[in-house]
Amino acid sequence: MAHVSDLIAVDIDEYLTSHQYKSLLRFITCGSVDDGKSTLIGRLLYESHMVFEDHLAQLEADSAKVGTQGTDLDFALLLDGLTAEREQGITIDVAYRFFSTEKRKFIVADTPGHEQYTRNMVTGASTADVAVLMVDARKGVLTQTRRHSYLVSLLGIRKVVVAINKMDLVDYSEEIYNAIVTEFGEFAEQIGLSDITYVPVSALKGDNIVEYSVATPWYDGPTLMTYLEEVPVDDDVAAGPFRMPVQWVNRPNLDFRGFSGRIVGGSIKPGDPIRVLPAGTTSTVDRIVTMDGDLDVAVAGQSVTITLTDEIDASRGDLMCAGDAPAEVADQFEAHVVWMHEDEMLPGRPYLLKVGTRTMGVTIAHPKYRVDVNSLEHLAANTLELNEIGVCNLSLDRPIPFDAYADNRDTGSFVIIDKRTQNTVGAGMLHFALRRSHNIHWQDVRVDKAARADQNNHQPGVVWFTGLSGSGKSTIANIVESKLHTLGVRTYLLDGDNVRHGLNRDLGFTDADRVENIRRIAEVSGLMVDAGLVVLVSFISPFRAERRLARERVEAGEFIEVHVDTPLDIAEERDPKGLYAKARAGELTNFTGIDSPYEAPESPEIRVDTAAMTAEEAADQVIAVLRARGTIS
Ligand code: ADX
Repeated sequence: MAHVSDLIAVDIDEYLTSHQYKSLLRFITCGSVDDGKSTLIGRLLYESHMVFEDHLAQLEADSAKVGTQGTDLDFALLLDGLTAEREQGITIDVAYRFFSTEKRKFIVADTPGHEQYTRNMVTGASTADVAVLMVDARKGVLTQTRRHSYLVSLLGIRKVVVAINKMDLVDYSEEIYNAIVTEFGEFAEQIGLSDITYVPVSALKGDNIVEYSVATPWYDGPTLMTYLEEVPVDDDVAAGPFRMPVQWVNRPNLDFRGFSGRIVGGSIKPGDPIRVLPAGTTSTVDRIVTMDGDLDVAVAGQSVTITLTDEIDASRGDLMCAGDAPAEVADQFEAHVVWMHEDEMLPGRPYLLKVGTRTMGVTIAHPKYRVDVNSLEHLAANTLELNEIGVCNLSLDRPIPFDAYADNRDTGSFVIIDKRTQNTVGAGMLHFALRRSHNIHWQDVRVDKAARADQNNHQPGVVWFTGLSGSGKSTIANIVESKLHTLGVRTYLLDGDNVRHGLNRDLGFTDADRVENIRRIAEVSGLMVDAGLVVLVSFISPFRAERRLARERVEAGEFIEVHVDTPLDIAEERDPKGLYAKARAGELTNFTGIDSPYEAPESPEIRVDTAAMTAEEAADQVIAVLRARGTIS
């Protein structure tokens, strides 16, 4: 590798020391496919002499062979290998490249510019200090430019460079440059970007990249490299209040107990007061321990182990905060959500949410609106699809410490994980806590479930029948209810077809509507159990996640899942309502088993094989289980 610094040859130690203490700038480049992004990054790497010699030889050969620039080097070829990979893939693909100059070290996140790749940008931008937006001088500010700018602003990157590229193709026209500056400036104002630097460049010819261009005498701003080398790196986080998510409790022996993690906000020194959230326990910092000895002070970005003057309880996932400026604690939020998976977001479905080192259950409400990132319009939406961004309320299953994303990008951001596949399906930024969580209290009731059950001669419970349409759920549930009634058991039968005429008449058969359908029924059956009843539920309920939600809504032992296991061909042959015929004829869409999935239960309490037994026998099997469990006597 050829590096400019002569120090390498003369005094390698001195070079390494100076290199180590150079500041680091992280930036992201955004642009559409043909804006010249690859050429720009290629040139930055080349001009900072961070291109490996053998790469360079290869580049010269490739440029001569397939390059588009005559005898000149075609810098885009440096990155093309990656681009080709990306065009095929649907995986999140952000290339991080490292280079350095005499003044600074850089990490650049290169994200594909394709229209759909919002999630790549979110990934690449989440740690960036600066965004370089590429604009083609011939095309001006495009929809893409607006989309990228919006995301940059949403992700809290405050410093933006607009590289107006391909100036060589517009004769280095000052008028064209000015027109783009004006147009972008107006848009930027609407989305709250204010720290913007414009540079007229030709990534291809090298104008205003590292050297000033003689072709733009009218331009008196910095070159792109000068800007990147000199822009102050925000120390906002380091200036903010102290925050450190506990990664692990370090307890090598009985005499030492330290809390290890990376500081994500502010600074800390021995003697500082500390509050550990969500518990709210307080103490004082005793020592800041690192591998290189104790520190007098530690700041955001450093990984340390903190010992306290008191023996207090804290564990992985807890947040250590400045004692006088702790984070908030809440379980309901408004947030921006960016959806990152091919499977749409399902409001009401239980997902996992991870903030820092803490993971817990979450449900997402219907979006308040979706943002058209091109026009900034707020659009009505029932769900979010891949790459869509919306504002939603989140409800967690327990309170967490947090900061608004605007105050701290670490403690205010989260990812959403699918419980079953463990895939990351979304990401987002917390705005604020909904006070509702504090203002709605549980009202104490005098007559409780046990008291109600006492008046009956049985325990309450849910018998949940799931299976395909036409499987025989309702028939069996009906017989079970008659038998229970005869035995003097207080019952209620919730049936899909009936409930869809009333409580759920606003719902159809999309995945999102089915999730909501079952969420409501889980809630209603929970209330009925509280009322002391044995509830019979007969819904297709095709998804495991929502059946689990229903199970978790009541106490252990109160839920009996009955899989009415009728194979599709038999249900279709019976076709009691003629719906399969319609679905096959294409007159009915989203039909379970045909063009909408059914996820069979993995371990139901009861499995009924309707091909091998009558409905009457199946009902007896259910009654027997209720007896064996002591629900009825
Ligand atoms: S669920 O999937 O959301 O649980 P639910 O049990 O409420 O479904 O409703 C199913 C009933 O609605 C079926 O028994 C059938 O009579 C009727 N139905 C109408 N359209 C559909 C469809 N596309 N898919 C399944 N059932 C449908």
